[in-house]
Amino acid sequence: MASSDSRFWHPFADMHAVRSAELTLVSGDGVHVTDEDGRRYLDGTASLWNVNVGHGRTELAEAAAAQMRELATYGAFGAFNNPRARELTDRLADLAPVADSRIFLTSGGGDSIDTAAKLARRYFAAIGQPERVHLISRSQGYHGTHGLGTSLGGIPANRVDVGPLDPNASQVPHDSLEALETEIERVGADRVAAVFVEPVIGAGGVHQPRPGYIEGVDALCKRTGVLHVVDAVIAGFGRLGEWFGPERWGIRPDMITFAKGVTSAYIPLGGVILMLTANAAKKPSENVGGFGIACAAMEALCRQYAAELGKYNIRVVCLRSAGSPDSPSSSPCAGTSTPRAGSPTTGSTSTC
Ligand SMILES: Cc1ncc(COP(=O)(O)O)c(C=O)c1O
Repeated sequence: MASSDSRFWHPFADMHAVRSAELTLVSGDGVHVTDEDGRRYLDGTASLWNVNVGHGRTELAEAAAAQMRELATYGAFGAFNNPRARELTDRLADLAPVADSRIFLTSGGGDSIDTAAKLARRYFAAIGQPERVHLISRSQGYHGTHGLGTSLGGIPANRVDVGPLDPNASQVPHDSLEALETEIERVGADRVAAVFVEPVIGAGGVHQPRPGYIEGVDALCKRTGVLHVVDAVIAGFGRLGEWFGPERWGIRPDMITFAKGVTSAYIPLGGVILMLTANAAKKPSENVGGFGIACAAMEALCRQYAAELGKYNIRVVCLRSAGSPDSPSSSPCAGTSTPRAGSPTTGSTSTC
């Protein structure tokens, strides 16, 4: 532990408590990290739901370094693109739980959420329903710290003393489908643009959805014409045993936001997968999406996810460690769930 007063401002921390009591980690290897005094720890949170394939993967460092030597970055404005961004988005589009998706790249989860919220509003403006601006999210939900993400957030402490939040955003109790339906009715379905849902609430306390909740939200959104945005920033890339998470409930949301595990957090990258007609929204605004380096790292990682996560049968691991969002009868242990082609579990042998 460092004893000197640190100048580093820790996010989500009581600085009085941590400024002279930091835990400085210097290296990582697989599921372990080591501090500056040589103590080794089991990284039980994977660096807060980030390092899905573990620490010390040299293939990722090499892919990023090779890309840096070739073309570090180039803005993706207008017609500009780079081969890695193209390859990556093609690959993610193939893996996404719906055909013919489009993928907008960002530099993290907060960017992705704000982009998805703006895209939802732009979509309705583009189809002649500009009054659909309201955004609904859930108590205890976390959607990053950007402007709209803070307004969508359902953890009370994150909302105080930051000035006025977006008045066209509201929260409902996270476990009540009825409450969501009532809120859509209260606002008026013709004024609601989107509902944001973490399939399993993470930062707000790890709350699994009640049986039928996720499917119910999806059906309600489809019935009312509201866009369903699944925030898969934590859920994606194997954490729920699928590439993105919604596959687990057999739903097809209108958008999926992702980040973190997409590069196993070796380099920041995020994005929004746009489903269906949400593609009609034009000109999402984001400056840095499409970094070649991050995309190159992810490309290398995708091969690893496909080749290695299946080997460890991550779906069973996640069911056993966190409990199943599914009813017991639909768990892989009951032998009724089949991983879809290309999912991280493909090729794995159940150890049930
Ligand atoms: C569900 C969810 N959405 C969005 C975010 C924000 O992502 P980022 O920290 O990359 O901005 C997070 C971060 O933990 C998250 O857990």
